[in-house]
Amino acid sequence: METQECDIGVVGLGVMGRNLLLNMLDHGYSTAGLDTDTAKARSFIDDARNTRASVTTKPQTFVAMLREPRAIILLVPAGPPVDAVIRELLPLLSPGDLLIDAGNSHFTDTDRRSAALADKGIHFFGMGVSGGESGARHGPSMMPGGPKDAYQRVRPMLEAIAAKVGAEPCVAYLGSGSAGHYVKMVHNGIEYGLMQLIAETYDLMRRGLGFDNKMLHEVFDSWNKSELHSFLIEITAAIFLKQDDRTGKPLIDLVRDVARQKGTGKWTSQNAMDLQTSIPTIDAAVAARDLSGYNDEREAASRVYIRQPSPFQGDAPALLTQLRRSLYAAMIITYAQGLALLRRASEIYNYDIDLEAVARIWRGGCIIRAAVLDDIRAAFHSRPEFPNLLLDPRLAETIATRQADLRAVVKLAVELAIPSPALMASLAYFDGYRSDRLPANLIQAQRDFFGAHTYERTDEDGVFHTKWS
Ligand code: 6PG
Repeated sequence: METQECDIGVVGLGVMGRNLLLNMLDHGYSTAGLDTDTAKARSFIDDARNTRASVTTKPQTFVAMLREPRAIILLVPAGPPVDAVIRELLPLLSPGDLLIDAGNSHFTDTDRRSAALADKGIHFFGMGVSGGESGARHGPSMMPGGPKDAYQRVRPMLEAIAAKVGAEPCVAYLGSGSAGHYVKMVHNGIEYGLMQLIAETYDLMRRGLGFDNKMLHEVFDSWNKSELHSFLIEITAAIFLKQDDRTGKPLIDLVRDVARQKGTGKWTSQNAMDLQTSIPTIDAAVAARDLSGYNDEREAASRVYIRQPSPFQGDAPALLTQLRRSLYAAMIITYAQGLALLRRASEIYNYDIDLEAVARIWRGGCIIRAAVLDDIRAAFHSRPEFPNLLLDPRLAETIATRQADLRAVVKLAVELAIPSPALMASLAYFDGYRSDRLPANLIQAQRDFFGAHTYERTDEDGVFHTKWS
């Protein structure tokens, strides 16, 4: 490729970078790829043979390949590597160029980088990209945020490579500053919550009902044809069919029960605490991953507190219906928590996020894509001012008619001693959110009793202190 002809550049030819480049090439864009790892650069050249792709291991050569004003997507691990790449490219860039960090960076890092680069006339975007390897290759959901005028330059290309639902691309400008990375962080928090809810229904069927992997596959496969239709349910059904190549045994039974995490779910919980926004299902999912890491202690504790298996004695088909209906209600409650956090963050950080647009672009390409997002999008369309999805009449009806199922499932989990923290947190959030009276009056009284922290009254404005003893 001659110099200064490429439409777009990508730094980082790992799984995401190479697949996003191939996606762009499929859509007729001329691309330049940079990776200082010669093996990765060479491997991509093989993948992109006979295309309009250029690849190099040298930053100077890479920048020279790009048409000005340049647009460069960074797909490198979050944290110091992003700063290192920016430092390396900055001397080679010109005012008006655009850098897009498409990794899972923390939104505060994006704010810092955006301000530092703006001083040098360089536009900077934080853009969440969701959908993993196949999403990058065939159509991710993308969550860009930053200077809007710069967005218009890359909008056609992003809309071309994005996943489509109907004719609608799963990408939208989400707001200023770090809005894009914030939305991706919340996407991942919801992802943690949904994954934990699904894992808990699996545990109830496996340890509670004694289901084998074939039965589990059939249940999740049937659920994927119901209101639960979603990417996570679809892949869960497939997981129970997978045989281990080495032993021929069901692979899922050989996977160690210790969940790892790169941190985006934790960040969601941390920031929700800072913003005093309640997202207990997501918190429970993060804590459940942490607890799964206590494997040695859990092993020892299982010998201290011998668990008497008390298999379920009731009507299994009826329980399956309750599980499906409970999971659907808890999924909606989880989305409601995450989107309520997005609303609050948008107010506090002045992102001006359009929550209907978020629901729209989450309907395809991303990990939390699900049929229910059509109803969530419709809720924001008809009532954009509602503070929480639980107040949407249609979703409220859906949950109200399923709350008995959720209660029955939570009761069963308690009776069977099968930990279900996300299901329980979802029910508690629902019951708390719809309570016009909570026991926080006692908390206030206790705080004032021991710390003279004062309290408000129901019958008079102002703050009061009482000598309670
Ligand atoms: C996505 C995924 C992606 C990543 C997960 C893994 O949207 O495509 O969320 O970003 O695979 O975030 O994160 P954990 O290691 O924290 O589970």
